Amino acid sequence: MANILITGGAGYIGSHTCIELLEANHKVIVLDNLSNSSEESLRRVQQLTRKTLTFIEGDIRNSDDLNAIFTNHAIDAVIHFAGLKAVGESQKIPLAYFDNNISGSITLVKAMEKAEVFTLVFSSSATVYDEANISPLNEDMPIGIPSNNYGYTKLIVEQMLEKVALADDRWSIALLRYFNPVGAHKSGLIGEDPQGIPNNLMPYITQVAVGMREKLSIFGNDYETVDGTGVRDYIHVVDLASAHLCALNNRLTYKGCRAWNVGTGNGHSVLQVKNTFEEVNGIPVPFEFAPRRSGDVAISYSDNSRAREELGWEAKYGLNDMLADSWNWQKKNPKGYRD
Ligand code: NAD
Ligand code: WQD
Repeated sequence: MANILITGGAGYIGSHTCIELLEANHKVIVLDNLSNSSEESLRRVQQLTRKTLTFIEGDIRNSDDLNAIFTNHAIDAVIHFAGLKAVGESQKIPLAYFDNNISGSITLVKAMEKAEVFTLVFSSSATVYDEANISPLNEDMPIGIPSNNYGYTKLIVEQMLEKVALADDRWSIALLRYFNPVGAHKSGLIGEDPQGIPNNLMPYITQVAVGMREKLSIFGNDYETVDGTGVRDYIHVVDLASAHLCALNNRLTYKGCRAWNVGTGNGHSVLQVKNTFEEVNGIPVPFEFAPRRSGDVAISYSDNSRAREELGWEAKYGLNDMLADSWNWQKKNPKGYRD
């Protein structure tokens, strides 16, 4: 049992990870500024697990908030989710992304160093891979400079953490490169709660299915893929959450900084996702084909063998589970946590 600080723990992936940690009998301390989440998610986490966690409303950019946590709780490790994540928004307000994601991470790492806490799991993204790589993407492939500012912040923080670990061998850092997280907890009590018009495919599909939006626009049907639409590696958020527990266990034993892909290793096209959603849930999803979205690649999916071999992690859920669980969450919470 360890004391784990989870930054951004009220958010989509963080709240699912809180469940995994509490169920593994860890003590959970969440720091979140609620800029893209609600405390209700944490209330439901506690309801589901019948365990309590400590919530601190605060900001990773505020060293006083961080120092107080490290002083008041004997933190053993940090899982760092906090940050902004909307690709389109990052092009409009880059400084907010540099501030939250890069400065925030620097402030966090400085506070950890001060408190002599050297175990960190960082939410990175498959977006750090050079676009010229051919899927399946493995961790030894070259990284590139992402075309959007959000992805750029992930690359910078990854590289910064690598250099910090190289300079001081007390550090033990996991860079988890997520592919496309979707789905929700089986209970339908917690899930993804996007604000405004969703950027990502899965919440857009569920909002069309529930009648909040008229139809799905499929961005491009002339890619060199199985049916012309973009291919991605969708990963159930519960499987993604369990990867954090595996990474934490690994990092409490090994030193240095290392990256792991977290994906299923399978690619599915947009049309396959839409059609399977309709089959699994029995709900039609009206759609139209629209032009390609700028910055999209045709195909991206993982080689996940490193995570399986080194972390002992494996994805338990397939596409049908992801689509059923996304819909279960959406239909039980049509307005997300705002009901
Ligand atoms: P989310 O927005 O649901 O969760 C992020 C949480 O961080 C929110 O609760 C938000 O309120 C909080 N936060 C933001 N800035 C903060 C700050 N300065 N101080 C304290 N709290 C702050 O997003 P998510 O989907 O759960 O993503 C979690 C992490 O995983 C993010 O770092 C994201 O970039 C990364 N990631 C997400 C995806 C994805 O598709 N969801 C893919 C790859 C990587
Ligand atoms: C998936 C597929 C779209 C919406 C993004 C970020 C990435 C990571 C995950 C954080 C693509 C198509 C989408 C729609 C569509 N986030 N699509 N109509 O672009 O793979 O990854 O989220 O790290 O950094 O870039 O995910 O869900 O937006 O798109 O046709 O309304 O669905 O073109 O092929 P993406 P996505």
